[in-house]
Amino acid sequence: MENFKIEIDGDGIATVTFDVPGRSMNTLTSGVMKEIPEWVEQVKGDDAIKGVVLTSGKPRASAPGRIWATWPGGMLGGSDLQAAYDAGWRLNGALRALETCGKPVAAAINGLALGGGLELTLACHYRVVGDNSKIQLGLPEIKVGLFPGGGGTQRLPRLIGVQAALMQMSEGKSWRPKDALSAGVVHEVVEPGKEVEAAKAWIKGGGKAVQPWDEKSFKLPGGGPYHPAGSQVFIMGNAMLRKQSYGNYPAVTNMMKAVYEGVQLPMDAALRVETRYFIKTLMTPQAQGMIRSLFLSKQELDKGALRPADVPKSDPKKVAVLGAGMMGAGIAYVQAMAGIETILIDVSQEGADKGKSYAEDILKKRVSRGQMTQDKADAVLALITPTTDYELIKGSDLVVEAVFESRDLKAEVTKKAEAQLAPGAVFGSNTSTLPITGLAEASVRPEDFIGIHFFSPVDKMMLVEIILGEKTGKAAIAKSLDYVMKIRKTPIVVNDGRGFYTSRCFGTYVAEGLAMLEEGYAPAMIDNIGRATGMPRGPLEMHDDVALDLSVKITKQTKADLGDKFTPQPGMEIVEKMVEELGRYGRKNGKGFYDYDSKPKTLWKGLSELAPVTIAESTPELVEDQKRRLLYRQAVEVARCWEEGVIDDPREADVGAILAWGFAPWTGGPITMIDQIGLKAFVEQADKYAAQYGERFTPPQLLRDMAAKGETFYGKFAGKKAA
Ligand code: NAI
Repeated sequence: MENFKIEIDGDGIATVTFDVPGRSMNTLTSGVMKEIPEWVEQVKGDDAIKGVVLTSGKPRASAPGRIWATWPGGMLGGSDLQAAYDAGWRLNGALRALETCGKPVAAAINGLALGGGLELTLACHYRVVGDNSKIQLGLPEIKVGLFPGGGGTQRLPRLIGVQAALMQMSEGKSWRPKDALSAGVVHEVVEPGKEVEAAKAWIKGGGKAVQPWDEKSFKLPGGGPYHPAGSQVFIMGNAMLRKQSYGNYPAVTNMMKAVYEGVQLPMDAALRVETRYFIKTLMTPQAQGMIRSLFLSKQELDKGALRPADVPKSDPKKVAVLGAGMMGAGIAYVQAMAGIETILIDVSQEGADKGKSYAEDILKKRVSRGQMTQDKADAVLALITPTTDYELIKGSDLVVEAVFESRDLKAEVTKKAEAQLAPGAVFGSNTSTLPITGLAEASVRPEDFIGIHFFSPVDKMMLVEIILGEKTGKAAIAKSLDYVMKIRKTPIVVNDGRGFYTSRCFGTYVAEGLAMLEEGYAPAMIDNIGRATGMPRGPLEMHDDVALDLSVKITKQTKADLGDKFTPQPGMEIVEKMVEELGRYGRKNGKGFYDYDSKPKTLWKGLSELAPVTIAESTPELVEDQKRRLLYRQAVEVARCWEEGVIDDPREADVGAILAWGFAPWTGGPITMIDQIGLKAFVEQADKYAAQYGERFTPPQLLRDMAAKGETFYGKFAGKKAA
């Protein structure tokens, strides 16, 4: 066998080590699925084998030893129904054979056990996990539009109860080892490195070779759907999950059905129910889009798909951060976490120290939660040197500038930093609005000048937008990408332009919410519709988060820059009044469209005077139409960015949109959405909206041309890649 090694010790215990060759992480390849039943047969037929310990052979050094992550991309990317069904069913058959093999099987979990990895261990009779803060156990499939299809929806509820299982699976959350123990997911937590020993001890102590659910006396914890308490869980759970997901995710509904129907049946039949709903889900456009963007494309970007291949790989060891404010402090923290020596510069020592204390606070929390050891936290913190001294920049591979958003100030610090840099070191600006080509004018080496745009809060937001100035060279692109990959974020690479890609397109969502306000829609309705589209928050709420004064400032700047070509945004006067006459700046001063002095926030009463409500009653048709309107507005802007050459890769357009501004994940991203609707239908609908609401909906010529030729974005991209 290629993927499993079997060693039998003097006590007759077979240790089966899972180790897929050539991968840093074990995945469920077709070879793996073929080999599981093979060794299960061997275990069954060999009288010398008394029990089995299943563990992972992946090295501890790179990451904790890993059981495996999830389904292989190849299978998920396909749309061959029969093949998918066969694969799903084959896995369930193999795991069922394992748990009924008649000999005790213990999982010695020495690393991440996510998705299929956890499902494999759930088919074992006993689970021991190492007490390593890096280990997580969970079923995150919902995050790519799926649900657990390797027995997870059947075994987890039988183990910990329907309610707890549904909560966990519907949010795709994971447990740390100790939480997994108290939740009842594992049986024992041991010192790291002692997992196999403990698993063997359980077998030698008479470990039982039967799953609880295969015993006559088995009762579902918390009761099944016909049990009075259990049925309550289903009714409430159903309502809650549907409300949370606004019906946008068939995976949630199908998972509920698989659990509801499955837990009433014996395990063999239950697994068939799961497979049926799993495949049904896999074939929905939502799952196909999410798998492609959030799983496959994201993985490709993470691994450097956008990196110029002919530049040798670099490894940034020392990086200076200019400005220790909100962004600079966050950037310093993520760098240090990745093992990068960090020089954190501000105008006063006090300011620089304050930036470092931000990292200290996060690290303290991580240690207290058991996610990190004190030694590791100390080592991370020791990597950050707060200072006012630009000379300490010497020897840096890269500089990230995060001082105030002022062109003159940025020019000044660019000169000061460049005086210290060796040839080839990169200068990256974290500006959120100033075009990179313009900022690069202050640089004596514009080929090494680039935009490295982080999102707030830096430690949570996974995307980094790399922006190319006119003169940015290939080496600077490659080095910036190496940096982003080292700090484990997902990069996209875009061309320069007002608002670059992400801020520009996100802005249209917020702007369209304002237009609705001006048309007389009730504010609560606008935000509800926004959330119903699958965006994380409504447009008015998000406007408050970004800050109303910032949006007034950007509008004024744009007007000054564009002169005659400037088109006023409907509803912007309302915001101008709020900022300039009433001092309402948004969440940052507790006063925006909402008042934030109480929790939960309440709608600001005065808003109805500035924007009288004329549309307060919603019908399902109206909600659907307005949901589509909000999504179309953003997608049209994405298409314009494409036409203007700001972006040219559908993967970065989709992944960037979802990770940067929360574009409804169920769509798979704006480009996938346009492709799935079909370009012709999309153009027709956008034209209708343009007639109704204004030119901002007019689709760019590029879309009309593609529609006329019957093209799709991903189709063209596949052709380009193949060529
Ligand atoms: P901030 O006001 O929190 O921090 C700016 C820091 O720069 C302050 O600590 C200030 O003392 C320092 N500074 C000023 N002059 C300096 C100099 N000559 N040398 C060294 N440090 C100096 O601002 P924030 O929010 O961190 O933004 C920084 C940059 O990041 C801006 O360009 C902003 O547009 C951009 N940005 C901000 C985002 C946000 O959500 N706040 C998101 C993405 C980018």
